[in-house]
Amino acid sequence: MSDPIFNRVLLKLSGEALQGDTGYGICPTVIESIAVQIRDVYDLGVEIAIVIGGGNIFRGLKASASGMDRATADYMGMLATVMNAMALQDALECQDVPTRVQSAIQMKEIAEPYIKRRAVRHLEKKRVVIFAAGTGNPFFTTDTAASLRAMEIQADIIMKATKVDGVYDSDPMVNPTATKFESLDYIEVLQKSLNVMDSTAISLCRDNSMPIMVFNLQGNGNIKRAVTGERIGTLVGELKSN
Ligand code: GTP
Repeated sequence: MSDPIFNRVLLKLSGEALQGDTGYGICPTVIESIAVQIRDVYDLGVEIAIVIGGGNIFRGLKASASGMDRATADYMGMLATVMNAMALQDALECQDVPTRVQSAIQMKEIAEPYIKRRAVRHLEKKRVVIFAAGTGNPFFTTDTAASLRAMEIQADIIMKATKVDGVYDSDPMVNPTATKFESLDYIEVLQKSLNVMDSTAISLCRDNSMPIMVFNLQGNGNIKRAVTGERIGTLVGELKSN
């Protein structure tokens, strides 16, 4: 069996990843299969932190486009990520993976507050840490939260799990001739407005040399394949040497 090439990863999951074909909410079989994938990586000894989106429940940008105050809509989106974090914690615990949820918005009855040093301690004690409520600020995406937290916990890489198997020069769902990039520089992502992460998230990664691997969550053990060094998606930036 291959050894992991990373010690500590930040896994970014979109909220939509949890909804499966149902189009809304959390699909029990889908969240179970994600938890199994994460357990397989956990069993390799990799320290795993997770940032999860909330778009399967509430999408702040969409609500603000239909007239809702942007900050209010974003706060509602952050609450949606807390629900997803709790569901993922439950699914991981069903797989016997010790897990802690830390929220950027204090709600002490249901989750620990985000404390960087404590999060790192949990990781060192081999607990999966799920960061909920984004950065705790409106106008920032959960991709930016992923970049920020990855920097704070000194992750080796951000693993961005998506619906497609990498970054393409145009939308492969729309354009059948779209070409996939094997690797990219941060500046190319920004200049070509490639749909990897928003520009704030990419800029943060660029300024701090944080590599991002974009890969398809659906697929046979893709998280494990990526963590053991298989090039299954698109790499943005350069891997750090251990
Ligand atoms: P160690 O001190 O390293 O052993 O970490 P620990 O997380 O096991 O210990 P702690 O006593 O801090 O936490 C025990 C349980 O309570 C864990 O499941 C935590 O996630 C949970 N917990 C800790 N602080 C809070 C909090 O502020 N709010 C909520 N809801 N749960 C908390």
